[in-house]
Amino acid sequence: MKLLDVLREELNLTGTKQGCGTGDCGACTVLMNGKAVNSCLVLALDAAGSEVTTIEGLSSKNGELDPVQKAFVKHGAIQCGFCTPGMILAAKDFLGRIPRPTEAEARDAISGNLCRCTGYAKIVEAVVEAHKYE
Ligand code: FES
Ligand code: FES
Repeated sequence: MKLLDVLREELNLTGTKQGCGTGDCGACTVLMNGKAVNSCLVLALDAAGSEVTTIEGLSSKNGELDPVQKAFVKHGAIQCGFCTPGMILAAKDFLGRIPRPTEAEARDAISGNLCRCTGYAKIVEAVVEAHKYE
């Protein structure tokens, strides 16, 4: 089974979305050992022993949202929400490496994540400003 299918169907973690199923849209992005991966391209077997973080696991134990999540809310970077979990997790990986990106760097970082609502301006703004919510 694919990691995406195990997350959604076996573990009921439906925050991770299925879009294309072929690695092209980023909707299924999760963190594997802190690195963003398309879970539709990862065999569940290959994830054995890895730490996998889905959108459900990003907030703190007391329910406080992660700074990236806060930034998306504050900047209105969510329309239908379908791309949002993948966008946030891709941004989380990226911001761990480049905490204060330029707009161009932020755009490049989410270039593998498609938003069918075309809300990119707000999403890029949220990624650039996320450090303010730490
Ligand atoms: S569903 Fe995995 S990249 Fe689109
Ligand atoms: S907010 Fe609808 S797909 Fe991005």
